[in-house]
Formats: sequence, structure tokens, C-alpha cells
Amino acid sequence: MAMKGVASSAVRALTSSALTRHLHASPGSKKIVGVFYEANEYASMNPNFLGCAENALGIREWLESQGHQYIVTPDKDGPNCELDKHIPDLHVLISTPFHPAYVTAERIKKAKNLQLLLTAGIGSDHIDLKAAAEAGLTVAEVTGSNTVSVAEDELMRILILVRNFLPGHHQVISGEWDVAAIAHRAYDLEGKTVGTVGAGRIGRLLLQRLKPFNCNLLYHDRLQMDLKLESEIGASFEEDLDAMLPKCDIIVINTPLTEKTKGMFDNEKIAKLKKGVLIVNNARGAIMDTQAVADACSSGHIGGYSGDVWYPQPAPKDHPWRYMPNQAMTPHISGTTIDAQLRYAAGTKDMLDRYFKGEDFPAQNYIVKDGELASQYR
Ligand SMILES: NC(=O)c1ccc[n+]([C@@H]2O[C@H](COP(=O)([O-])OP(=O)(O)OC[C@H]3O[C@@H](n4cnc5c(N)ncnc54)[C@H](O)[C@@H]3O)[C@@H](O)[C@H]2O)c1
Repeated sequence: MAMKGVASSAVRALTSSALTRHLHASPGSKKIVGVFYEANEYASMNPNFLGCAENALGIREWLESQGHQYIVTPDKDGPNCELDKHIPDLHVLISTPFHPAYVTAERIKKAKNLQLLLTAGIGSDHIDLKAAAEAGLTVAEVTGSNTVSVAEDELMRILILVRNFLPGHHQVISGEWDVAAIAHRAYDLEGKTVGTVGAGRIGRLLLQRLKPFNCNLLYHDRLQMDLKLESEIGASFEEDLDAMLPKCDIIVINTPLTEKTKGMFDNEKIAKLKKGVLIVNNARGAIMDTQAVADACSSGHIGGYSGDVWYPQPAPKDHPWRYMPNQAMTPHISGTTIDAQLRYAAGTKDMLDRYFKGEDFPAQNYIVKDGELASQYR
């Protein structure tokens, strides 16, 4: 399915740039391609449902009124997919982590006119960032747009796992009534040790949300927080991840997917975790070794695993996490609430507007700029 916009004339400001294909628009109409998940019958159910392919962030009229061409498609993978037809002549690609358009080095090489890769949401690991930097592209995301959405969702998943909620719900649907089957492994959250691996925007907000539950809060990050903030939040810094892991009843992953975090939770790391540990991962599926997680859930070393991120996405029908015991997985949904969609649609529009005018983006939005990756991706 392609939803095509019509190109006409447009002239935008041009500001010189140090790099070959860097940020500023050249005069004339731009070809902008958006890759979003398809909503079918749900598309018309809520006027604020902007994140789907049909509603295309709500920016079609605005773009077309300025003479730009706006193509939107959910068809992103496999030979002859719609996205690949537009790669050779697009100027801007808007993608989301929920239905990631994998922007490989090969695609970047073919994209002769490409200048800007915008992520509507947070997390641009579906893009080969090094190849983008080498090609002089700008990569930016709507930083902060779904921080609240993800932190709330993580808190919910922690409670779902700790209380052993899902088996009870499944009993209701299947006509059963077996209190013992739930109660033998249901706990209170109070008094448990919760550790977040990564305490940036989402990790910190999660810690703040957890404070009233009277847990023992720990965090590991490559950077220690400001001490005043750390004491307000009530979490202790653990410089050594391996020292933090065995202390935790619950681990939450909140780092980006980078070369350093890819496959970080392999058999060796998982062996360091407390037996029966609960894990929540809304960060990225590929931070975990897929099979190591499935095996540890089967053996009971991991007592419960919940998250909304997988690799690849959409998750294939035979993905091992669909079939492992004690999982509370969902499709990638936490950062795409209606509130989040409104924020990342507005943020994407703002960045496009700045791009047309040759203005810079807010500094925190850049993932690749002037051939440099943001520090945590290096
Ligand atoms: N599931 C969803 O819908 C969804 C939505 C938004 C974000 N996310 C994911 O969550 C991630 C975190 O988002 P955020 O807004 O909190 O990002 P952020 O940049 O504010 O925070 C990331 C934190 O991780 C730390 N970090 C990076 N590499 C590290 C390493 N190797 N070791 C230890 N700490 C490291 C950073 O120092 C930083 O504090 C995103 O990168 C994205 O992958 C998922």
C-alpha cells in the first residue's frame, strides 16, 4: 500500500553546510517518505490516532500545501517492497521504532538524494548510524516524546510480573478457578530490590515513579546522576553492572541499543542474576541474547520476562519469546500511546519545518550530526 502525495513547486531557504549531504534543504520540492504501521479499521476510530500509516502523523496537508511530496507506506521489508522503490530519490525518511524501517548501509548507498533520517519516537538503532554518518546524513529523533509512556508501562509490567497477574487472567478466560496456581509465586513489590540498567530519561522517571512503593532502588549507567537528583530519587549508583545484577529481584533495561549493549544479556550475564529474577525490557530486544533468555525462562533462572521490544520487528511467528514460560510480552506498544503520538507527530513536524527553513534542531534530538554520532552511540 502506498499513499501518495502530489509534488509541485516549493522553494526553501538554503544555508551552506560543512558536509556533503548535511541538513539544509536545497531549493525545490522535497520527497518525504514515511514508514508507519498500518491501522486498517482502527485508523478512523480516533482523530488523534496519528501514528499509523493512514493518518501519517497528521502532516500530509501541511507538507503538500508547501509543494512537497509525501509518500507513506507500511511496506518496508523484502524484495520489491514499497520503501525500496522510493529509496533512490527520497530526501527525507521518517520512520518509527514500532514498525522499524531498517535503514542499512546498502539502502543508504542507494539513496542518492537522502539528507535527513527522522525517527518519530525514541531509538534510532534501526538505522546503520555509522553508515549514515559516513554519508554525511543527519539522524534525529523526537527526544523525550514518549518518556512518560514507557516509564508508566514499565511500572505496569513490573507489577504484572511481581503479582503473577497474567495466569490469573488466563484462568478467568478459560473458565478455571485455581488460586494456588497463582498465589504460590505472587509477591508484593514493597521491599524488593529493583535495578535499572540505564538511568537516562526513562530510567530516571521509572525510579521516580517507583519511590512511593518503598523498594530498594539501584541504577547502573555509564554516567552517575547529579548527587542532589540521586538523593531526591532515592536510588543508589552501581558503577559495576556485574556487582549490581545479583542484588536485584527485578531488573529493568533502559539503555539504547548500541555496539556496547547489543547482546549484553547473554548466558554469562544471565548466570549472574539472582535465581527467579524478573526482567522488564522495553529498551530493545537485541540487548538480550534471544535464545539465552528463552532458555533461562524455561529453566526458571529467569522467573518472569516482560517487554514490548523484539528483534526483528514484527516478531516472526516462531520467535522463541512467544513460546517461553512466564512471559508477559506484547507487540511494541509502550511508546505509541495516543498522548505519545501527539507529541512525536508535533516534534517531527517541528523538525521538518526547521529543516525546510535551514534551522538547527534542539541539540538533544541529534543522533548523527556533522558526521559524528551522539556520545552514547560511539
Ligand atoms: N518501547 C518503546 O516504545 C520505547 C520508547 C522510547 C524509548 N525506548 C528505548 O529506550 C531507550 C532509552 O530511552 P531514554 O529516552 O531513556 O534514553 P536516554 O538517552 O535519555 O537514556 C539512556 C541512558 O542509557 C545510558 N547508557 C547508554 N549506553 C550505556 C552503556 N553501555 N552502559 C550503561 N549505560 C548506558 C546513558 O548514559 C543514558 O543515561 C531508547 O534508546 C530506546 O531504545 C523504547
